Amino acid sequence: MAEKVVLAYSGGLDTSVAIKWIEENYHMDVITLTVEIGGERDMDVIQQKALNAGAVKALVHDARGLFVKYFVFPALQADALYEGQYPLATALARPLIAKLLVDAATEEGASAVAHGCTGKGNDQVRFDVSVAALAPHLKVIAPAREWGLTREEEIAYAQKHGIPVPVTVASPYSIDANLWGRSIECGVLEDPWAEPPEEVFAWTKAPANAPDEPAYVEIGFERGIPVSLNGKEMDGVSLIQELHQIAGEHGVGRIDHVENRLVGIKSREVYEAPAATVLLMAHKALEAMTLSKDQLRFKEKVALEYADLIYNGLWFTALHQDIAAYVQSSQRHVTGMVRVKLHKGNATVVGRKSPKSLYSYSLATYDKGDVFDQSASLGFIHIWGLPVKTQAQVQGVEQMEGEAAP
Ligand code: ARG
Repeated sequence: MAEKVVLAYSGGLDTSVAIKWIEENYHMDVITLTVEIGGERDMDVIQQKALNAGAVKALVHDARGLFVKYFVFPALQADALYEGQYPLATALARPLIAKLLVDAATEEGASAVAHGCTGKGNDQVRFDVSVAALAPHLKVIAPAREWGLTREEEIAYAQKHGIPVPVTVASPYSIDANLWGRSIECGVLEDPWAEPPEEVFAWTKAPANAPDEPAYVEIGFERGIPVSLNGKEMDGVSLIQELHQIAGEHGVGRIDHVENRLVGIKSREVYEAPAATVLLMAHKALEAMTLSKDQLRFKEKVALEYADLIYNGLWFTALHQDIAAYVQSSQRHVTGMVRVKLHKGNATVVGRKSPKSLYSYSLATYDKGDVFDQSASLGFIHIWGLPVKTQAQVQGVEQMEGEAAP
């Protein structure tokens, strides 16, 4: 009996070719696993495609709930944004897919798992490292990293084996999408000077063509988790999907990023992340109200670490567990409401409120009702400025010409 392998199957050309290629080169039975995480694909069609391409079995797993609960929302609570720009949609999905591959391999008695990543990207690292952490006995097969086929050769291989080559293959772009965002690479985008053509966008209206009237969304958070949209309580998946529609319609969430891949390459990536953009912004605005200055400063450093860790494929590590525990703890008072205005490509926080707000009107106001004791500032400033004054008197101060005063 042939050994079995579970292949992460997207339904695209690469993974379809991979089914045949593994059969021919490894003589294994290929079971495909397609994970539904909101990439807007038809699962029945994909399943049938896998079987037509030679899979012995085609599994489908709707993991949208898991994805949001265990990956997307924890990243949102952490304010994780890679290099200040990328909300990490693809990077967050990989460990989940790896976990489901491992589970399916165990269930099916497979000795290997497989994925369609090339040898140039981050995704191969995320899959391989995650599988190694979860099930070190499983072999990982990555056909696209091994076969050395050019695009033309791959298409020829597909045609020879009766694998349908969709018209979309004519598209020069490489696309990955899930609930948290969509990424577009290749083609003209490989010239970082070239403005992304309108055709690369599928989720966001061109800001110039967005409605003239702004839209307002009110997002309710409980302990850093979004729980309501415009007054309606919603589960995470529905909330993201609905917000995606509204923000996309207003042209919000386009990102153009020259990013540092883990494998040492700088790469120009275009993202569309309407829901993520609004939620990350709203969440930060609520934290600004409910966390102390020191908590905010410290959390910013953690966010940087956390984003790198996710990007670099280190989800299933002890460090991740530790950081996640800190982030959870930090969210215990991040409860309240944020109002965001969406208008022609811009999202702006225009209101926020919280039962745990640290903002005090009576301390902040310049009107009557002011309880801030201005006379106390005098002594505070005296001591605050003491080391400054002392040092300046002894050592001088560098002034604008770049010279120390006598
Ligand atoms: N650059 C992003 C990342 O590394 C997106 C990668 C998209 N992956 C893909 N196979 N098209 O997370």
